Amino acid sequence: MPTVKFINEKKEIEVPAGTDIRHAALMAGVNIYQGINGFGATINKFINCHGLGCCGTCSVNVLKGMENTTEPGMMERMKYKGLPIPDLACMQYIGNEATMRLSCKTKITGDIEVETGPRLNLFGDNFFS
Ligand code: FES
Repeated sequence: MPTVKFINEKKEIEVPAGTDIRHAALMAGVNIYQGINGFGATINKFINCHGLGCCGTCSVNVLKGMENTTEPGMMERMKYKGLPIPDLACMQYIGNEATMRLSCKTKITGDIEVETGPRLNLFGDNFFS
């Protein structure tokens, strides 16, 4: 069974192959709905789309094992790249393009390491240097 490691929460759980990251987080007792830089984490826990792929509050960074996840589907591509007016999930995507996934739409096929609550970083790491 694949292992999912939640880096920030220091939790590790084994899940059946084909489980999505959101359900793995629920099984591990991890709040996947972190809001923007932690703001809104409490309210997002209750106000979200419950896995339909349209709210974006469940965004995570897959730090290791991206090859052990399914390819981004239409909902993910539309969420991060297809909206004419950017929402907050789209703004979190900036700078995290290679690692950010919607946890509710990403199925696990092997071992992965996940960072919940990707940071909003509009100007990049080198903005002030
Ligand atoms: S729970 Fe809303 S997009 Fe994943």
